[in-house]
Amino acid sequence: MPARGGVGRGYLQTLVELLLMGAKDGPVPITTSELARRIGRSQQAASRQLELLEGAGLVERYRRGRSTEVKLTPQGVNELVGLYLVLRSVLEEPPESYLFTGTVFSGIGEGRYYMSLEGYRSQFARKLGFEPYPGTLNVRLDSPSQRMQFRELIARGGIRVSGFSDGVRTYGAVTCYRALIEDVAGAVVVAERTHYDYTVMELIAPVSLREALGLRDGDRVSVRVFSEGQQRAEESRRHPN
Ligand code: CDP
Repeated sequence: MPARGGVGRGYLQTLVELLLMGAKDGPVPITTSELARRIGRSQQAASRQLELLEGAGLVERYRRGRSTEVKLTPQGVNELVGLYLVLRSVLEEPPESYLFTGTVFSGIGEGRYYMSLEGYRSQFARKLGFEPYPGTLNVRLDSPSQRMQFRELIARGGIRVSGFSDGVRTYGAVTCYRALIEDVAGAVVVAERTHYDYTVMELIAPVSLREALGLRDGDRVSVRVFSEGQQRAEESRRHPN
């Protein structure tokens, strides 16, 4: 977990208390004396803590007459998700596979271009055991819990496909995770350099998934993704090719 400067000690505890009070879903009324009691600190300290959290963009405060309402911002929630994932990774056996469901949609045809590059194709063939159909099927993950799962999967590492250069431009590394798309074996591909918001999953397979599964934009699809686990990630770091 990255340490956060500037928000004071115990800020995660305050975020947890706000979460328990329901501040994830909308503004909740709160008094500094109640917050103080919950975090076991002085009223002054609690009030200061809220100011710092607001300054750091982790909460938003709204004045309603004499009272104040507080809401966690997406960054605030993200901070808690980070904490959750760290705790979960040390306290729980990680699952062997993750089940996702989402909605198929079309992109701008970039997948076809990337998947036809020899630099990627040969590695996919060697590391995944199949030559991908040229393209990626885009699936939008609809719920926050699915996005959180996706984030966890990515954090656990997968099969690494190295970047390369064709002399003109460079192409980034990609991480793959074996998957069953309904009943078709394929893989999830995650480009390493994309700035990910974990809402879109890109799938490859030896066949056209649209044809094999009769998929059209807007159709729902289920994807079971197998975790390669930490060990695999370590291995591929040591032997990047
Ligand atoms: O940008 P977009 O994802 O729409 O297209 P693409 O990645 O260039 O892929 C070309 C087409 O093949 C898209 O309609 C994909 O949904 C589809 N596709 C598929 O049916 N099965 C795959 N294994 C890969 C892509």
